[in-house]
Amino acid sequence: MCIKNLLQTGTMPRFKTILVTGGAGYIGSHCVVDLVNAGHEVVAIDNFANAVGDDEGSPALRRVEEITGKKVTFYKADLLNKSQIGDIFDKHPIDCVIHFAALKAVGESMQQPLLYYQNNLLGMLNLLEIMRSHNCFQMVFSSSCTVYGEPKHLPITEDHPTGNITNVYGRTKYFIEEMLKDLSIADKRWNIISLRYFNPVGAHPSGLIGEDPTKEFTNLMPFMAQVALGKKPVLTVFGNDYQTPDGTGVRDYIHVMDLASGHVAALNLLSENHVGLKVYNLGTGRGVSVKELVEVFEKVTSTKIPLQYEARRLGDITAMWADATLAKNELHWVTKHTIEEMCTDFWRWQTMNPDGYPKKNVKTSVIVNGKSSS
Ligand SMILES: NC(=O)c1ccc[n+]([C@@H]2O[C@H](COP(=O)([O-])OP(=O)(O)OC[C@H]3O[C@@H](n4cnc5c(N)ncnc54)[C@H](O)[C@@H]3O)[C@@H](O)[C@H]2O)c1
Repeated sequence: MCIKNLLQTGTMPRFKTILVTGGAGYIGSHCVVDLVNAGHEVVAIDNFANAVGDDEGSPALRRVEEITGKKVTFYKADLLNKSQIGDIFDKHPIDCVIHFAALKAVGESMQQPLLYYQNNLLGMLNLLEIMRSHNCFQMVFSSSCTVYGEPKHLPITEDHPTGNITNVYGRTKYFIEEMLKDLSIADKRWNIISLRYFNPVGAHPSGLIGEDPTKEFTNLMPFMAQVALGKKPVLTVFGNDYQTPDGTGVRDYIHVMDLASGHVAALNLLSENHVGLKVYNLGTGRGVSVKELVEVFEKVTSTKIPLQYEARRLGDITAMWADATLAKNELHWVTKHTIEEMCTDFWRWQTMNPDGYPKKNVKTSVIVNGKSSS
């Protein structure tokens, strides 16, 4: 089934205006760079639950403007506030939504399950309802390889069973995917791609944007960089007795700019085909152990990362890497960046911005709440 989108022809993208939820966040901001460069008009929203910013705007998106030389429209808005989101759809002719906004800290999700279910599930429900009422049925959803649980085979293909998950965060992704399945069966107008990310790391090669979480719970690479900068004494590695070559957990690390280009590829597919609901793995197809990653990081940054081994954490997975053949064949997307580049680019971001984004008095030229503030 192929429904040609009549919005645009020629070299311009068929989907013009893209709503990016969670656009001030780590992956969202990098993706906005690629979207803008691909000729899309971006309307980004974020409530700053896990991003730096205030009523004056988002420093990450201000930097995106510096990188691309183009304006990004931004609204401080919360997906739990339906009227705020509805107003944005009233103002902008949104062709497609890329839905990044979610809370993502596994540890925090175990401590505050209601917060995670409310934010991630209700946020998604609100968004889908508003999209439907504005006749927008195209979406790219940020899912995660967590939905697979402990792998039954490696590399993981998209038809691997899902749902056997040991943490609340992962379950929110799984529940949403199930909800999207029901929705796309019930209403054929929906055209959705769910992208299951493996382990995003790295930063934009300019060093201007990168991961700057506002919460204590954080991913491996930002933590490692804090140790390299001397801000934290050691990197705690949970488990060195796994059945892997060096005993530490194995993951499929993917450069955030490769992830960003995967979203542009997904948009291209959605704009030309009616897929109903399709799922793709976004990974490199290569497993790298924590120890290996630390060694590469130490080499490219000429630093020493002291490690402290602790017992395995309940629910942590031994090894997981993607089979990304489907994305290669159908999205015509492959990863380009090496582990060395992931480390070099993240280090550039960290050393250029040792304290992350400016936290106060963020003057931005980003269009905030529909008005230019430059
Ligand atoms: N980073 C990873 O390792 C990883 C892996 C797999 C999947 N994902 C998913 O990718 C997406 C983006 O992840 P990220 O690493 O950029 O995280 P992030 O926390 O940097 O970005 C998410 C953004 O969403 C915003 N947000 C959260 N709830 C919101 C709400 N109710 N309304 C408006 N904005 C809200 C946050 O403030 C944040 O800026 C998330 O859905 C995450 O679950 C991330």
